[in-house]
Parts: sequence; C-alpha cells; structure tokens
Amino acid sequence: MWHILTADYFTKQQIDKIFFHANAIKEYPKWFNQKLTGKVLGSLFFEPSTRTRWSFEAAMLKLGGNCLTESQAKENSSIKKGESLEDTLKTCSQYTDVLVVRHPKSDLISQAAKYSNVPVINGGDGCNEHPTQALLDLYTITQHFQTLNNLSILFTGDLVYSRTIRSLVKLLPKGIRIIKAVCNETHSQEDGLIIPEEEIVSYLPHIDIIYMTRNQSERQSEGYKASSFILTNEMANRMKNDAIIMHPLPRNNEIDKKVDENHRAKYFLQAKNGLWVRMGLLYEMLRN
Ligand code: NCD
Repeated sequence: MWHILTADYFTKQQIDKIFFHANAIKEYPKWFNQKLTGKVLGSLFFEPSTRTRWSFEAAMLKLGGNCLTESQAKENSSIKKGESLEDTLKTCSQYTDVLVVRHPKSDLISQAAKYSNVPVINGGDGCNEHPTQALLDLYTITQHFQTLNNLSILFTGDLVYSRTIRSLVKLLPKGIRIIKAVCNETHSQEDGLIIPEEEIVSYLPHIDIIYMTRNQSERQSEGYKASSFILTNEMANRMKNDAIIMHPLPRNNEIDKKVDENHRAKYFLQAKNGLWVRMGLLYEMLRN
C-alpha cells in the first residue's frame, strides 16, 4: 500500500480485503484493539472537517495507535511561515506512520505526497477527489443491497464541485446505472445519463439510490447556478421500499429534517461506516 490520492488507486481485490477487515472489526472490535500499538497517524487539515478527521483518528485510536492532529493547518502549521506543502509533508512524515491530508486546492496533495516518507491519504482535495469517502459509500451500498448488479443511482446537488461524487463514480462497477441531475450548463460530462434537476421527482420511484450533496459554496464561482432541489419526506416515500438516501454530510437544507426518520435515510449510517472502513484500511496499510 502506498499513497491513496485517488479512488483509481483501489483494485477490486484491495476493496474486498478492506471490507473484509471492516466487517471483522465491526463484529470483533476487541480482537483488533491492540493491532496498531505504537503506530502514529498524523492529520493535517487545511479545510474544515468533522467526519473525515474524527473517523480517521477514532479508527487509529481504536486500533491501539496514536494521533497527531492539526485541524487548522492553514493557521497553525509552518505553511503560515511560507513553507511549501512538500516540505511540511516531508517533515511530518518523519514523526508518523501515515498522514491524512485535506487541502482546498485540487492536485496539490498529490504533488506534495512525493516528498513524504510514509503513505499519504487524500482526505479531500478541492473539487478533485475524496477516495476514502468513496470507499465508505461503496461499503454502505454493498451492505444494503448485497449485490451491485442492476442498481441505479441518482446524483443530485453540486455535481461540478463535489469531490465525493467524482471519487465514488470511479468505484462503481459497470453494472450500476448512473444518472446525474444537473442545474447548470457547466456540469461534468463524464459518465451516466444527464437529466435536468426539475425531473428528479419523476425519477424517484425508479431508482435504488439517491446520492445527494450540498452546494459547495466555498468553491462555487461567481454567477454559478446553485442547486435548489430539496428532498422532502413525501418525496422520499415515493421511492422504492428498499431504496436508500445517501449524503456524505454535512448537509445544508437539501434534505428536510423529517427525512431523517424515514427508513430509507442512510446518511448517518454512512458516517458510522466511515469508522469501520477506515479501521479496515489502516489495519491493511499498517499491520506488520
Ligand atoms: C464531504 C467533503 O468534505 O468533501 N464531506 C465529507 O468528507 N464527509 C462533503 C462536503 O463537504 O460537502
């Protein structure tokens, strides 16, 4: 295992192994609680985070390791003194066994990772990628449906600036039908069927997964037409009984609070799965 900068990094075999560990850890947590004793995870976050940083750190602690954390790296690291990210990672990699880095600029982590002596995990770089979020999203889908054949997934929200969609699409097998609801002209053309946001409601009864994202207002350019779709509980009830509602969180107003009580809502479970999957990943990367 080396740097995890893009979801393309993961092979089917690696994913199976990580999910196998995640399931075992979930079932027998005590068996794993000393497995990474003496190992140190460093987290350097140049952008806000709740789930990604805490679930990585909780994962390391629950495996018996330790964490060095810098949640306000923009202000508190030597970057503030003019140091390059290359030099910061080179330095921090001397005290740690793995680094998790989040940065607002796309691709910068990938360039700087070359200078690190330990594996660097991209915890989100601009609107580019968030590979471990894609892993936990795929885990959530796999857990629910058991099979990935003949499913359809509808992506909504900010398709231009959402890094979680970009990474997840890379991990979805060919058998999954991808539909993207867009609200502006500058949408990504990569894969799947593109539909206007106004048609979301008519698709709801036919899809298996709705994967929603918030407007990434911190990244949207001036004049960008933001998504205005809001999922209500009435709409959610029109979905198939075993369909699921996903969201990487944090949400803004795109999911009505009442939807939280709907059995299809899986976004907080997704966040919980982030712990098992990141434990499985760290165990696979750092076990002796
Ligand atoms: C996402 C992120 O940071 O890309 N959150 C997460 O890691 N769970 C989604 C977002 O910020 O909208």
